[in-house]
Amino acid sequence: MPEMTSNLSGQHILLGISGGIAAYKTPILVRRLVEAGASVQVVMTANAHQFVTATSLQAVSGNPVRDDLWDAGAEAAMGHIELARWADQILIAPATASMIARLATGDASDLLSTLCLASPAPVSIAPAMNQQMYQHPAVQRNLASLQADGCRIIGPDSGDQACGDRGPGRMTEPEDLLTALAEQSLTGDGRGPLTDCTVTVTTGPTREAIDPVRYISNHSSGLQGLAVAESARRAGAKVILIAGPGVAGAHAEIERRDVTTAQDMYEQVHNALPSTDVFIGVAAVADYRPANAQGQKIKRHRQEEPDMRLALVENPDIIASVVQSGQVKVVVGFAAETNDTLNNAREKRARKGLDAIVVNDVSDHSIGFNSSNNAVTLIHENGEIDFGIQPKTEIAEQLIYQLGALFKNKITL
Ligand code: C5P
Repeated sequence: MPEMTSNLSGQHILLGISGGIAAYKTPILVRRLVEAGASVQVVMTANAHQFVTATSLQAVSGNPVRDDLWDAGAEAAMGHIELARWADQILIAPATASMIARLATGDASDLLSTLCLASPAPVSIAPAMNQQMYQHPAVQRNLASLQADGCRIIGPDSGDQACGDRGPGRMTEPEDLLTALAEQSLTGDGRGPLTDCTVTVTTGPTREAIDPVRYISNHSSGLQGLAVAESARRAGAKVILIAGPGVAGAHAEIERRDVTTAQDMYEQVHNALPSTDVFIGVAAVADYRPANAQGQKIKRHRQEEPDMRLALVENPDIIASVVQSGQVKVVVGFAAETNDTLNNAREKRARKGLDAIVVNDVSDHSIGFNSSNNAVTLIHENGEIDFGIQPKTEIAEQLIYQLGALFKNKITL
């Protein structure tokens, strides 16, 4: 990956630390941020003091550490609203289940949660907790709400935990947090790598009616495309999201068009093309649809013809039609493969005339379809970049960063 931490030079980073064991790593994180040229102000929750001292954090950041909304002395030096406005980015690391719950509900009961509400800066959080806690539906629900609000979720990593368990919930390591912050850093004038650019993303499955109650579809959840749309928005783009059925909510600034069939998706995509600079086709579009969708429910007992045969006709290849239209500067496809993954994807990229294709192996059921994790390879004309198993949100962030860098000249034409 290209060296990115120089993006952090001159940035104002507000580091929030909540009360988890991973807080012991935060002095190193602060040290690295300062070495990368960032100014760091640290805010701790009351429980964070159980794991790391304010004295260490003050020493490495060079700034007094704040922990109390009602500290008259600290407020006189820099009021909390002033501190909220000072931040270019807020990172909460570690983010405990309790901190995540407060952020998700807009609770402002301590200094750190108040700052997150009062600041216009992007907020990233690095969850850290026991694997059972992390996988609890309440925590997952809160994380999904935060993500829909535009909060970036970094990690967590998976592996041995301080409590002796193994699984997801380890805080992302300081070096990787630094890279993640650098990826989404806007320049001093608030511009991101995709500012002035319109990105259209398709996501989710399509549904092809057999009769009024039955359809042909697939296992796509739309999560990866949602994450790509969200990362593009954070990188400064205007985003149009064309979503198949069942796709979860997107950020309010994303212009969303809901569709059901491949035909609907084709039409909405072509409506969006005149204003699109970059097209990213993440949707799992049905390749075929029933030739004659029945107006009434098909009955079971048909003695004269016990076997059922469904005639199918081909749907349009949406992404290939985008390339053929010549209206878009960069076209990126996705490919879900079950065998000979890389070769199939290389062939598909060339055949469809795509600038890049992102391929994942869906024969491994722990990632890909309906999972929050994925592992992909980005294939472009001059090379391939492998992304290991990571949350879809992180993959999206890195993909958008890589696409911004690879196609910078085409995008700014
Ligand atoms: O050929 P395959 O379906 O695997 O190609 C995957 C890529 O093509 C994805 O980017 C998908 O969104 C796009 N596609 C499309 N229209 C279709 C089928 C696939 O845009 N009918």
